[in-house]
Amino acid sequence: MPKVTYHFNGQTRTVEGKEGETILQIGLDNGISIEHACGGNGFCTTCMCKVKSGMEHLSPRSDREDNMGVTDDPDRLSCQSIVGSGDVEVEMVEF
Ligand code: FES
Repeated sequence: MPKVTYHFNGQTRTVEGKEGETILQIGLDNGISIEHACGGNGFCTTCMCKVKSGMEHLSPRSDREDNMGVTDDPDRLSCQSIVGSGDVEVEMVEF
């Protein structure tokens, strides 16, 4: 199972996720508070993160990310980033 490391609010936590789940879902399932004002539908950017490592283990950038202007690495919307078989490390963007 892939491991996802989150840096948020001055804390760092590494959790196990399931392949095929998003960075947002894995975080929420593990009690990590991640803003998701649009409910994980790719319409707000409050779930934005910076990928520190493992970008190659995430799904390709979605049309919704493009539409929201989240087009440049290392930025990704955590609700649109599906984790594959490898480990990922992200820093949540604080607003
Ligand atoms: S939760 Fe709104 S864009 Fe991800």
